[in-house]
Amino acid sequence: MTFSVQINGQTHIVDVNGDTPLLWVLRDVLGMTGTKFGCGQALCGACTVHVDGVPTRSCVTPIESIVERQVTTIEALHTVEHGKALQEAWIELEVPQCGYCQSGQLMSAAALLNETPRPTDDDIDNAMSGNVCRCGTYQRIRAAIKRASA
Ligand code: FES
Ligand code: FES
Repeated sequence: MTFSVQINGQTHIVDVNGDTPLLWVLRDVLGMTGTKFGCGQALCGACTVHVDGVPTRSCVTPIESIVERQVTTIEALHTVEHGKALQEAWIELEVPQCGYCQSGQLMSAAALLNETPRPTDDDIDNAMSGNVCRCGTYQRIRAAIKRASA
């Protein structure tokens, strides 16, 4: 079945089953590999994208549920509010270690700053608690979010 989906401001027609996860469509159909597969069960946050500005686990989001909605992925982070500031802070503070979780971290951080431009430590902990980093970069993530919000 074909679906028309809006991703990073562009319309894509994809021919997949309706229950195909958005993550599969992004990576395997459209070749947008910036969004990562971690657990596949909405437990790690590696696959986080924005759907209408809301951080969303693309691994458990059926493609049929996002028709007519605006999806933003890490490839277009620079186009969302605070996106460039977050990219700069991530680079300046050398946040990533292996980097695998970081696209999800950045998308969650961008959604946080859209909702709460000056987050407290508790705000950051609450917003980022669903994004797991096996390398333990949590302190640098928090510092980078604060820098981007400054
Ligand atoms: S891969 Fe989606 S939350 Fe882990
Ligand atoms: S930087 Fe390696 S998992 Fe987060």
